[in-house]
Amino acid sequence: MDSIIVTGGTPLSGDIPIAGAKNACLALMPATLLSEEPLTLTNAPRLSDIATMSALLRSLGSEVSLLAGGKVIAMSSHQLTSTRADYEIVRKMRASNLVLGPLLAREHQATVSLPGGCAIGARPMDIHVSALEAMGAEIELKDGYLHAVARGGLKGARFAMKFPSVGATENALMAATLARGTTVMSNVAREPEIVDLAKCLRAMGARIEGEGTDTITIEGVDRLHGATHEVVADRIELGTYMLAPVIAGGEVECLGGRLDLVEAFAEKLHDAGVEIEQTNRGVKVRRANGRVHAVDVATAPYPGFPTDLQAQMMAMLCTAEGTSHLEETIFENRFMHAPELTRMGAKIEVHGGTASVTGVERLKGAPVMATDLRASVSLILAGLAAEGETRVNRVYHLDRGYEELEAKLGGAGAKIERIRD
Ligand code: UD1
Repeated sequence: MDSIIVTGGTPLSGDIPIAGAKNACLALMPATLLSEEPLTLTNAPRLSDIATMSALLRSLGSEVSLLAGGKVIAMSSHQLTSTRADYEIVRKMRASNLVLGPLLAREHQATVSLPGGCAIGARPMDIHVSALEAMGAEIELKDGYLHAVARGGLKGARFAMKFPSVGATENALMAATLARGTTVMSNVAREPEIVDLAKCLRAMGARIEGEGTDTITIEGVDRLHGATHEVVADRIELGTYMLAPVIAGGEVECLGGRLDLVEAFAEKLHDAGVEIEQTNRGVKVRRANGRVHAVDVATAPYPGFPTDLQAQMMAMLCTAEGTSHLEETIFENRFMHAPELTRMGAKIEVHGGTASVTGVERLKGAPVMATDLRASVSLILAGLAAEGETRVNRVYHLDRGYEELEAKLGGAGAKIERIRD
């Protein structure tokens, strides 16, 4: 497996382009299953998760072509040949479960393996299942697969989610576009990726209102048509690269980044003493002289502080002045980066869902192991400011979520190289 070597101590300067959002794209791609006409996505990120979703869609009978080096995804699902999402594909990536809603809506049946993905918690599917059952689906768990049928098709329904799950909201939203009648779903997730999905579905002819609030209303239509949609910018990639000059020192402009999508995160950076500015090219970030200050952070569903930026934030707080408290409320097992950061000299104590981080003046390079996508990148960030060399092993998770990471950070002056196995 490849590793990445980062040599710390060089301040950054320059531009880092922000790609289309991985998590938006992974929800937008299954929307092709809802229509016989082509769906084209532009501004797509070039990532292995996108290749995994392409393979899954092809296994269902969709045609998927990655054009313009992968920045454009042209899909057509004229005729589906299968309604089974196999374990061999689903285990690689939890977002594979996003074919469940569209398949049920269009084919009135689906068999979807329970997912794998990052090892950051139990990640059950009960909220997806209750939402689809409310719309008339019958769902049974057998041999590790969810077997779902909707005899006579899905029906509009009124229901509340017990927690605003991102994936369940996306599955239910896609399913409801072709259900008979009106669906009103409350306590749903409000993430920008859901707003982007609703925008695309509307371009395909769906009738949706309320996305971005906690209640979405969908009036079912008989069929959806083709569309071309531009994927929203990746707010997690933005947040990650905003932290790079904070940790390494210097100034970076994240091209195409949207500050309005990372407000809770930017507010914490501001409290820590970081200078941030939305420009007409993107988001400019500079660490003023000296160390940043400790801040307390608790993750929460959007518009709260994103769990997907918690590991990277911890990397920053490892060298902040004072003690910070980080509370993880979304996933129960998401501090796996803490022991690795400790190997680099960080002072971190984890008690259940809370971590206390006491900043040290400087981290020290060490061989470390990446355990999930965001944990991997937090170790790279930590390495940017560490003394000497940090070797991040097992980086395949990184390629799931960060396109051309070495080129992007290297372009801003970081000393970073990939060692191919
Ligand atoms: C999505 C993101 C992921 C992000 C997460 C939370 C994608 C592809 N992935 O994941 O990067 O970290 O949102 O912002 O968009 N839960 C249940 N039952 C369910 C569904 C979820 O208990 O049926 C729990 C999960 O175990 C977890 C919490 O709800 O503790 C949040 O999960 P959810 O919002 O569904 O996250 P994902 O859609 O899997």
